[in-house]
Amino acid sequence: MTARDARGPVPIVGAAVPHESAAGHVTGAALYTDDLLARYPGLLHAWPVLSPHAHARLLSLDTAPALEVPRVVTVLTSADVPGEGDTGPARRDEPLFPDEVMFHHQPVAWVLAETLDDAQRGAARVIAEYEELPAILTIDDAIAHDAYLAGPFRITRGDVGAVETCALQCTGELRIGGQEHFYLETQAALAWLDETDGVALHSSTQHPSETQEVVARVLGVPRHRVTVECLRMGGGFGGKETQASAWAAIAALAAWKTKCPVRVRLTRQLDMALTGKRHPYLARYEAGFAKDGTLQALRLSLWSDGGYSLDLSTAIMWRSMFHCDNAYHLRAVDVVGYVCRTHKTSQTALRGFGGPQGMVVIEEILAQAAARLGLPADTIRERNFYRPGDTSHYGQPVEGAERLATIWTMLKETSDFDRRRAEVTAFNAGSPHLKRGLAITPAKFGISFTATFYNQGSALVLVYRDGSVQVNHGGTEMGQGLFTKVRQIAAGALGVSADRVRLMPTRTDKVPNTSATAASSGTDLNGAAVEDACRQIIARLTTVAAGILECDPSMVRISSGLVSGGGRSVPFADVCEAAYHARVPLFAQGFYRTPGIHFDPATGQGHPFYYFTYGAAVSEVEVDRFTGAHRLRRVDILQDVGDAISPIVDRGQIEGGFIQGAGWLTVEDLLWDGEGRLATGSASTYKLPSWSEVPERFEVAFLPRATQPGVVSGSKAVGEPPLMLAISVREALRDAVAAFGDRNGAARPVVTFDSPATPERVFFAIQAHVR
Ligand code: MTE
Ligand code: HPA
Ligand code: MOS
Repeated sequence: MTARDARGPVPIVGAAVPHESAAGHVTGAALYTDDLLARYPGLLHAWPVLSPHAHARLLSLDTAPALEVPRVVTVLTSADVPGEGDTGPARRDEPLFPDEVMFHHQPVAWVLAETLDDAQRGAARVIAEYEELPAILTIDDAIAHDAYLAGPFRITRGDVGAVETCALQCTGELRIGGQEHFYLETQAALAWLDETDGVALHSSTQHPSETQEVVARVLGVPRHRVTVECLRMGGGFGGKETQASAWAAIAALAAWKTKCPVRVRLTRQLDMALTGKRHPYLARYEAGFAKDGTLQALRLSLWSDGGYSLDLSTAIMWRSMFHCDNAYHLRAVDVVGYVCRTHKTSQTALRGFGGPQGMVVIEEILAQAAARLGLPADTIRERNFYRPGDTSHYGQPVEGAERLATIWTMLKETSDFDRRRAEVTAFNAGSPHLKRGLAITPAKFGISFTATFYNQGSALVLVYRDGSVQVNHGGTEMGQGLFTKVRQIAAGALGVSADRVRLMPTRTDKVPNTSATAASSGTDLNGAAVEDACRQIIARLTTVAAGILECDPSMVRISSGLVSGGGRSVPFADVCEAAYHARVPLFAQGFYRTPGIHFDPATGQGHPFYYFTYGAAVSEVEVDRFTGAHRLRRVDILQDVGDAISPIVDRGQIEGGFIQGAGWLTVEDLLWDGEGRLATGSASTYKLPSWSEVPERFEVAFLPRATQPGVVSGSKAVGEPPLMLAISVREALRDAVAAFGDRNGAARPVVTFDSPATPERVFFAIQAHVR
């Protein structure tokens, strides 16, 4: 045996390999949808005619002046729709060409021209007359007008009358701002008529099958005539789960009408004006605590600002209600959720999908109770943790709850929490104008689509006679590293090196009827489906190899591209060639459905999640008394990713997710003006986290020995959960603001502020709490 044999082959699953497109991402070689336009001669460009009102009736539309502009080809209106002119994913409430305009900038027609400039010039010439109607622009307005898209939804357990008899009552209201996705690649689609009477599209979509469905609906054709491909996305973050389809529909409709290839790509400002965001929320709560800080009962009402149409708002509200416990055992709870209808863009999925809003609320409540009871915030959190055997308020046993305490204890140690608490206190005692704050917060996140039927994955794996492999599956790559992980899974399952495995762009004609790549479940679903396909192929190849090697099939091993047994080995490719000649198929479809999950919205009870992920973060901030400006000094994270399939990818997801969460909670501030126009509608007015928001010290670790049974490779989802660890930044800011009020012997002030905790809000919080 050689030394290498003794050690065994280097495992591919679990190896720290770079993202499969890392080099392409940084050199610019990686192609995105809109990079392909040069391949389509005669391509037309589309530009919308935009409504100047948030709510209005469209009285007339005169497109003739646009047609006088040179190189303008045509103007798309409702008269051009052969099928159903509505792209709504949940309800038919998103007309492509509305008679009643429902948000500021809503497109009412699209101009097609040979260049983008000409299309824009044409759009400026279209004459539209409107009758302005009153617009509802805030959650409070919507409540006052009874304007709801959905709800109330409810989850109840126990007797919340207990609130009034508790030693401590905390009541209040919290406003939580939305968030722009700011994917680097804006919404884009390219459509053309193919050679066999079909419509083909490149689309930057998280959900190619739904984009196909919407295009087919608009064109009035069966879905088999529409093929959608997603090469990769320059970020989706939930913003392309449903909201990629309208642009694809416009491109397809225009190609249908003109017979030319058509490109739709939103500019940054158009994208920000036209596409949905994370839902802003209003929460009202009444919570009762025992003297020791344990939460006894909670009454909670949540209102989300859904914008003009339903989109995913129902599922998002359910996820908020599922996550209003975060990591804490709610003994008695009554949570009610409403989706408000406002004249704004239709708010949509954004990393965390409503979970973050629910979790921010419970952390706010615990922080206030801690201050009022004179307990350290970390103590009250720990005292309320789920313990093994506990059940969530929606009736699901909280399996793995013991990981919460483990993570908490480990992270406190590795982050040196107690010593730094003392250090922060000492620093603050000597620093009147700069104060530091320190906080540790946990995060538990439920994995699975809450609509059970979405929890399925499909794959098509093709092995060629030379032993090279193409993998197709239903998931899309948006930078999160799904393709990197699936490649590792396929190479591991087939026993070949990763460079023998090619991941193909996602296409609806390779794998049909797929789910969105969302809910952090891309690898769990598609990775398992690919593994299923690979195992079938390996079973067949094993039989063939046993014949070649003249050994029992149970002796055959395939690894590192070699097939061994009976003391001999042959190259993988030779076995593939032999299989072909023996008329054994070298391809297989794979399928996976998540077992054991169900949920009944009528009762608010069930088992909606296959499992929970757990994590915790410690954040330390420094706040300037005179400006409210703050900086992140240090962040320590311990996250449960199961057995990491791809540790570099997972680390990237944790770091990126955390910073995106910190952006949402501390710098990104969506503002609409009195007309319903997005006032922070470009990169110059909407502040994003960047290098200056990255903590000076950033320590990320995975929970060791964390194998998750029943999930592909024992791994756990990682895409969304780390975002919610950024709540530790919000809580560290609260700690720092309170420190401005520290005086000898005096109780700490109860500090409250809405989200995001921008410097301005932090400044006013200091003013409010410091005498
Ligand atoms: N990471 C990158 N780089 N870009 C993205 O768009 N989207 C996030 C997360 N991480 C996203 C990302 C969201 S909202 C989800 S649901 C998951 O990735 C989806 O991918 P997964 O299911 O493969 O984790
Ligand atoms: N998460 C993300 N996207 C979704 C979900 C969910 O739970 N349900 C439907 N789309
Ligand atoms: Mo992610 S918000 O589930 O696309």
